[in-house]
Amino acid sequence: MTLTREWLEPIGVMPVIVLNAVEEAVPVAEALYEGGIKAVEITLRTDAALDSIKQIKKECPDIIVGAGTLINEQNVEQVAECEVDFAVSPGMTEKLVKKAEACNVNLLPGVASCSEVLRGMELGLSCFKLFPAAAVGGLNLLKSIYGPLPQASFCPTGGLKIDDFDQYLALPNVACVGGTWLVPKDAVASKNWSAITEIAKRTVAKVEAVA
Ligand code: 3PG
Repeated sequence: MTLTREWLEPIGVMPVIVLNAVEEAVPVAEALYEGGIKAVEITLRTDAALDSIKQIKKECPDIIVGAGTLINEQNVEQVAECEVDFAVSPGMTEKLVKKAEACNVNLLPGVASCSEVLRGMELGLSCFKLFPAAAVGGLNLLKSIYGPLPQASFCPTGGLKIDDFDQYLALPNVACVGGTWLVPKDAVASKNWSAITEIAKRTVAKVEAVA
């Protein structure tokens, strides 16, 4: 299945989350949801990731739950088993896209150039993660791509901050944005869930100001 701009747009901001313990999963997701965040992306960078996804799916039915950092076909199978709502990969290969299709996983693959967008369009995709967004050209790159490829929509991620993500969100080819700023490592380590809700609220207020 392929993700559409209409599906991504209401999400606004996608927190990219690294969890070291399953016990952190539900409190983090609930803290974000309380702050107005609708979706979470749990990255497959830790051993706790898959169980964390399962816990959030089970205990937080109102949250859209995605998996991030998929890098191979086995990852696609793993997240399909967790029945994720979407999945994100830092890059794009034909194998990943085809496997996601076969497993009914809504994949948002990472791209960083026009050639990659074209390859994705050949595979039937119209929405991409732009990664690492700030490092590959950020706002200027997105504005430049919009000229020849206005039909492609992006979720820029990588290097975005609470101070500048709204500039990305205001671009016509940006459907939503992603980043780790919503879930600071120290807030998770100290179980400071209210700090996460506070950042989420500040973030959502900026999203609403762009809309
Ligand atoms: C990702 O995987 O999308 C990035 O690690 C997020 O990048 P950030 O930490 O700069 O937000």
